[in-house]
Amino acid sequence: MERFIVTIDGTSGSGKSTTAKKSADRLGWFYLNTGAMYRAVALMCLRKGILPEDHQMVEKIARKINISFQNVKDTHHVLIDNEDVSVEIKTPEVTKMVSPIANIKEVRKILVEKQRKIANNQECICEGRDMGTVVFPDAQLKIFMDADVDVRSERRYKELKAFGIPAEIDKIRDALLKRDAYDSTRKNSPLKKAKDAILLNTTNMSIEDEVNWVVKKIQETLVSLQNK
Ligand code: DC
Repeated sequence: MERFIVTIDGTSGSGKSTTAKKSADRLGWFYLNTGAMYRAVALMCLRKGILPEDHQMVEKIARKINISFQNVKDTHHVLIDNEDVSVEIKTPEVTKMVSPIANIKEVRKILVEKQRKIANNQECICEGRDMGTVVFPDAQLKIFMDADVDVRSERRYKELKAFGIPAEIDKIRDALLKRDAYDSTRKNSPLKKAKDAILLNTTNMSIEDEVNWVVKKIQETLVSLQNK
């Protein structure tokens, strides 16, 4: 059988990243965090004083950047060259900058190519906004996650606190709504559910519930493909 790709797309804070990482850990598969790739480009632009409007310079960064992941049990590290930027890419400054950067067509093209290359030879859980619609349209299993905005804000708040990043819940809620609206209405690869994706509403689910649900779906899909 061809290598198995699972796509998980959805709104910010719906639980995508944690669920994708933990499910991949359980199966011994690779977790591909594509949001982190856009964030890494945004971070480099911030460091170099490049504005999102300067498309040519942002594209240059996207082309040159060397992003890698270290998925160790229970931890997920994002590296630019050999520098661990896992915490820095989560700061509000990067979060603010990342949406306009993710709307640059050429930047998407460059990062999509890198994403397909990473997923080429391994079983993968690929998480982002356009995994099921654009990057891996033939994925064997597609999931779209969403949750009530208050629940999502609370989760993001706890996540930032855990990273030691100062946060206020009202500001997080506003930023989440703004980012979802922007990501869903942007011109290039907007956030939307693929027609053949299964909707998972995580409002009343714990992380453990979500992981159990995802792993069960993957196992069911594997069995049904083997029986074909
Ligand atoms: O999942 P995240 O919050 O780390 O994503 C950061 C930003 O990157 C978010 O505003 C949407 C964008 N993104 C995207 O456009 N396409 C992806 N495949 C992943 C993320």
